Amino acid sequence: MRAVDIIRAKRDGERLSTPAIADFVQGVTSGAWPDYQIAALLMAIVWRGMDAAETTALTQAMVDSGRRVDLSGLPGPRVGKHSTGGVGDKVSIVLAPIVAACGVTVPKMSGRGLGHTGGTLDKLEAIPGFRTALDLDAFRAALAAHGCAIIGQTADIAPADKALYALRDVTATIESVPLIAASVMSKKIAEGSDALVLDVKCGRGAFMKTYDEARALAQALVEIGEGAGIRTEACITRMDAPLGRAIGNALEIRECIDLVHGRGPADLEALITYLAARMLCLGGVAPAEDAAAARVREAVASGAAAARLAAMIAFQGGDAGVVAEPDRLPMARERATVSSPRAGVITQMDAEIVGRTSVVLGAGRARKGDAVDPAAGVRLLRVVGDRIDAGDPIFELHASDAARLAEAETMVRSSLVIDDEAPAATSVVLGRVSAAGEWRA
Ligand code: URA
Repeated sequence: MRAVDIIRAKRDGERLSTPAIADFVQGVTSGAWPDYQIAALLMAIVWRGMDAAETTALTQAMVDSGRRVDLSGLPGPRVGKHSTGGVGDKVSIVLAPIVAACGVTVPKMSGRGLGHTGGTLDKLEAIPGFRTALDLDAFRAALAAHGCAIIGQTADIAPADKALYALRDVTATIESVPLIAASVMSKKIAEGSDALVLDVKCGRGAFMKTYDEARALAQALVEIGEGAGIRTEACITRMDAPLGRAIGNALEIRECIDLVHGRGPADLEALITYLAARMLCLGGVAPAEDAAAARVREAVASGAAAARLAAMIAFQGGDAGVVAEPDRLPMARERATVSSPRAGVITQMDAEIVGRTSVVLGAGRARKGDAVDPAAGVRLLRVVGDRIDAGDPIFELHASDAARLAEAETMVRSSLVIDDEAPAATSVVLGRVSAAGEWRA
């Protein structure tokens, strides 16, 4: 089918046949479809959607655009994890070594920053020497040696997703259940896990703003995963304010190091413990969530998780010394502090605005292929629920170029709501969808 006919059909709200979807994905992979036609079809899908059969066909065509990793022969259950993207979401970098230290193999293929959300690969590459471009033999060797590895999609894993992901990032075509579901699941099916825990972000800083949207995405992800023979759970978690206190690549690696030593911020610690416990349960190495959470805490307290993180960094060519000495990470030359305009309680800190601020500072991309600045980002000196006085410092902005600070300062101020009354306490986990149905917190 001609590209223009496929685009017109979707623009007019028609269902796309499996062969038409295969033609599209083939055109993306081979380069036969130019970026403008791909972008036009992506925008039509954002507006018109896709049903379950189309989404499954898109996922399968994206898996078939490359090869599948064969992890048979590696020890232990193999449980993957993926987040749909948040601000300050550095969970995978801490979770993978913790779960590996508990006896589960964690094969992890991650992405780069997307829109206002950060990317695990960009964060890891802030560690001097760290290589995310391992080939599949090295990936298997890393998993066999240390139980965890975090790499980028190799050229032969879901190459169609790699091309689409980069284009969606710069054409405002991210927020779509079928596009996100096919993107996430094509990578995860190709990655070779037996089971999968997904973190579907929900709220102001997420691509899914409401619980209902997040549940629809969670259900689509679980349906595709189970259909492909992978035990899949999708946890729905809050993403209204940034997670933790650091946004930006090297700043977030510092926070990961704190977390792996058991001295991280409480919101992230709770989320990591929860997701890690779900992975242990799904992998069958713990009988129930309480016992699994106790093992996770022990892996951190004993230093086993920190040792795994250092081993993973060393295997992937990075300076493992950062785990003991985080000051070896890049640091920004230019800094500015943003203070509170009034006294009160912080009731809101809009994660999307803080994420966009870190992109303005250089931590993310404005155009496909842009380089990111490892040192740029935002540190939160106060968080939601904190009582403050007028003039108290709230944000610390980090950049390599002082010219970026002024725009970032105006932007980050607009993320804040300060009231007289404290907000109601909220929990980070909102719900979970699995083959057994929905559980609501
Ligand atoms: N994460 C992905 O891998 N793909 C998306 O489309 C969004 C988040």
